[in-house]
Amino acid sequence: MTIDNSDYRDSGLEFAPDFLIGSATAAYQIEGAVHADGRGPSIWDTFSHTPGRIVDGDTGDVADDHYHRLESDLDLMASLGLEAYRFSIAWPRIQPLGSGEPNAAGLDFYSRLVDGLLARGIRPIATLYHWDLPQALEDRGGWTNRETAYRFAEYARIVGEALGDRVATWTTLNEPWCSAYLGYGSGAHAPGRTEPLAALQAVHHLNLAHGLATRALRAVVGNDPEFSVTLNFHVLRGDDASSPEAVRRIDALANRAFTGPLLRGEYPADLLEDTAAITDWSFVLEGDLDTIRQPIDFLGVNYYSTATVRMWDGTAPRQNADGHKDVGGSPWPGSTDVEFLVQEGPYTAMGWNIAPDGLEELLVSLHEQFPATPLVITENGAAFDDEVVDGAVHDAERVDYLRRHFTAAHRAIARGVDLRGYLVWSLLDNFEWGYGFSKRFGIVHVDYGTQERTVKDSGAWVAELIGSRRIPG
Ligand code: FCB
Repeated sequence: MTIDNSDYRDSGLEFAPDFLIGSATAAYQIEGAVHADGRGPSIWDTFSHTPGRIVDGDTGDVADDHYHRLESDLDLMASLGLEAYRFSIAWPRIQPLGSGEPNAAGLDFYSRLVDGLLARGIRPIATLYHWDLPQALEDRGGWTNRETAYRFAEYARIVGEALGDRVATWTTLNEPWCSAYLGYGSGAHAPGRTEPLAALQAVHHLNLAHGLATRALRAVVGNDPEFSVTLNFHVLRGDDASSPEAVRRIDALANRAFTGPLLRGEYPADLLEDTAAITDWSFVLEGDLDTIRQPIDFLGVNYYSTATVRMWDGTAPRQNADGHKDVGGSPWPGSTDVEFLVQEGPYTAMGWNIAPDGLEELLVSLHEQFPATPLVITENGAAFDDEVVDGAVHDAERVDYLRRHFTAAHRAIARGVDLRGYLVWSLLDNFEWGYGFSKRFGIVHVDYGTQERTVKDSGAWVAELIGSRRIPG
């Protein structure tokens, strides 16, 4: 008899003691306190306060009020037994106008966070940029302006000088794909611009910012930390004879536009060709590619679902199910004739298809492409419409999602992938960007009226996994 475990619901699989299991958040999504202690405005403050941009008009003004609840949230992390916590630092707390002297009160908040983590035996993983660009820099062109990359390196140095004796792992950027293409191409994210050229300039200046910041950090931090960058990969499937071309195009724009320069020191030739009608890429200056390709200790991998693509033949309206909010502009400069097909369910509350096999496939593929680069899953998780009933949240679908994706990760390790850890998105329900508070990703429920935290069944499941090192049955 053969056992069919194609559903990825294995149980009892064991993770090695040094495989890091934890959870992740981002500053604007949880902190609130947007005017506290000298914080300046970011592009997400401006964007969320612009009518029509966010579902229900939500903003991050209060969010989870984490800024004022630091100690109790740290205790919550400890109660779950988290081994690592990935958080982001809000640039506008450190440099309210994006340049110049650091704001001591802003640095102090993150210093207390890092100390609080260390005191509880939790490894701090700090992301420097999870999308909250100081508005003052956007006013000067944002990521379309090369100068922003230099400002980012200055900010990295400041943070490195303040926290570099204690932070275990540095991540420069979270998902530059979103910053560039959703921020400047589709307009679904801040700053909400819809300019194909601007999106490609942003791609390059973000890559450059990673290189400059990694260099700047290395020069000042003293505790031999890890350096990394986190990308959101598009795992692509085909549907008909035109699909290989569509897969190649989207792989170039979404994946290789980043892995190429970051890990190989080059932009893919086919990317340059596909986008030639928009730009000759003359904003890539001599020496940039050497600056961008800095040694890193691991590549951060964010994964949620797959995408199925083919070339649009124009006979029916173009399908656009790429998983991103459709607000009019395109996040696919030069490839707006690629169609994204509705995929088979089941789906999460985001409408994203649940496909743990995509995670296994992605990890194996990255390992094959970059055998010398270890991997960490820096985000994976799911939104569902949770409810608190009698003080509990029985989020069986999220538990199932996590069980299947941890199984996928385990299978990838068994196939030889050098996967070092897994951080569940997210610790807390939070401000889910354009969807506001309508989507709950937390393993801990947040009541936005009272700020009460309730550990969901999935939170208890993660705690059990960490405690036993085995995927609970
Ligand atoms: C990722 C983001 C993260 C969160 C999840 C659901 O793209 O990095 O902040 O919104 O998606």
